[in-house]
Amino acid sequence: MTEFEDIKGFIFDLDGVITDTAAFHTLAWRQIADEVGVQWTVQLGDALKGINRMDSLELILKHGNKETLFTGAEKISLATRKNNNYLMLVQQMTPANILPGITDFLADLQSHGYQLVLASASKNAPLVLEKLGLSSFFQKAVNPATLKHGKPNPEIFSRGAKLLNLNPAQCIGVEDAAAGIESINAANETSIGIGNPKVLADANINFDDTTQLTLDNIKFSMDH
Ligand code: BG6
Ligand code: MG
Repeated sequence: MTEFEDIKGFIFDLDGVITDTAAFHTLAWRQIADEVGVQWTVQLGDALKGINRMDSLELILKHGNKETLFTGAEKISLATRKNNNYLMLVQQMTPANILPGITDFLADLQSHGYQLVLASASKNAPLVLEKLGLSSFFQKAVNPATLKHGKPNPEIFSRGAKLLNLNPAQCIGVEDAAAGIESINAANETSIGIGNPKVLADANINFDDTTQLTLDNIKFSMDH
């Protein structure tokens, strides 16, 4: 098991970790699911977390056995409408949408010399960071448009470590999605799951919410 002292960098998911946008993505997708007549469930909502836009649409349609009912162009139009719904919610965002404890944690990481990189599947991540006033913490970010595979594939978290010039064992990944934890683990990094420990059972470290995300708590968890 990796020692706390080995850790030099943190690779962050955005939606649901830094800010409450996981709920906005859910709301925006739910409108599309309602429109096409797919029944929403909490499990479907959880399964969509961390999953890129087109893969999310495919999962929703599959959940309602409707994956063959739409042409490629119709699917693009549905995904574009979802994004427009989502962007309307994002427009209203301010630093008040940063999850509790996150700003202090980022500042603490920076003052202790840890390197930071963003590993979000969202093409809207730069806009969201700007709305939150957190862009300066993330000089480095994996561009999701350049990825071959989405989460749970390790590609995005492996790329995060490479951008920091660190070995995977020197990195901690922070996620709220089961697909994201799988991605971090497969990249051979240490995983922190924020949220329901039953959903995030594969995480190396579990915290119920972002207020528990502190260097002391991480050190304690890794030492015990
Ligand atoms: C992830 C979210 O961060 O980004 C998913 O957890 C979302 O819910 C994905 O589908 C892609 O986001 P976007 O903004 O590119 O549609
Ligand atoms: Mg997330």
